[in-house]
Amino acid sequence: MSKLAGKIAWVTGAGTGIGEGAAHALAAEGATVILTGRRPGPLKDVAAAITAAGGKAHAKAGDMTDAAVVQGIADWIVKKFKRLDIFVANAGINILDRSWDKISPLGIDTVLHGNLDSVFYGAIAVLPAMRKQGGGQIIVTASMAGRWVGLMSGPAYVAAKHGVVAACHTINMQECVNNIRCTAVLPGEVATPILDKRPVPVSPEERAKMAQKEDVGDLIRYIACLPDHITINEVMITPTWNRGYVAALQRAGV
Ligand SMILES: NC(=O)c1ccc[n+]([C@@H]2O[C@H](COP(=O)([O-])OP(=O)(O)OC[C@H]3O[C@@H](n4cnc5c(N)ncnc54)[C@H](OP(=O)(O)O)[C@@H]3O)[C@@H](O)[C@H]2O)c1
Repeated sequence: MSKLAGKIAWVTGAGTGIGEGAAHALAAEGATVILTGRRPGPLKDVAAAITAAGGKAHAKAGDMTDAAVVQGIADWIVKKFKRLDIFVANAGINILDRSWDKISPLGIDTVLHGNLDSVFYGAIAVLPAMRKQGGGQIIVTASMAGRWVGLMSGPAYVAAKHGVVAACHTINMQECVNNIRCTAVLPGEVATPILDKRPVPVSPEERAKMAQKEDVGDLIRYIACLPDHITINEVMITPTWNRGYVAALQRAGV
């Protein structure tokens, strides 16, 4: 597998979960991956694992809610590698006190900045380089909560992820003439550390039935391998044992 040989891919939220899965999959396909998250430790571990497997990875820690930091990392990548082909805007966050009766201004800021501003800051940081080099690809990790309104993820997360999906479509509308495309990946439940913030704890048995980080990572790899003239605008990926469907079946007595 080397469809991405020579490509430079920046993956945010790459120290754990879906971002870790995507970084491994993109590197196994030949891309050089730059890994960003706030904590250097997990990034270094993922970079070491990718290198040990024969891939090329660089850890570059930073907070995606700080526009200057985001621009600095994008500039570092372009200066070092002379291009930036794929941007996986995957970093995201949720909070425990998420319902309308519990959420605070700090919680609202954390969720909106961490899921929505982070994607905007990343997009405006990478787009100039992509335009200059004649094309590029942005893949954003949104959520099923970005397509359907529900209570489980909390109102701020639902609003932020709807914004992420909308932002992705507007990138396609404006940047298609520059050979730049954007895909919104909408996962259902994936067994990653973000589930540890759920108000109702998720058991190991339930996590085992969910989508895994490697499943979504492989989908991101597939999208990244599409030829330039094709865009998958939006794609959903959910566990077959879908807890929402199972609960609905139980309510319906089916
Ligand atoms: N798991 C699911 O069921 C599910 C479903 C739908 C969508 N998603 C979305 O999938 C994406 C990845 O989440 P995950 O499920 O893989 O959970 P995760 O393991 O918690 O990954 C989130 C990653 O984002 C990083 N991050 C958070 N805030 C950041 C910031 N301000 N700047 C830089 N990095 C930041 C975290 O690292 P640091 O803490 O070190 O910064 C972490 O590695 C998120 O956008 C999430 O909303 C997840």
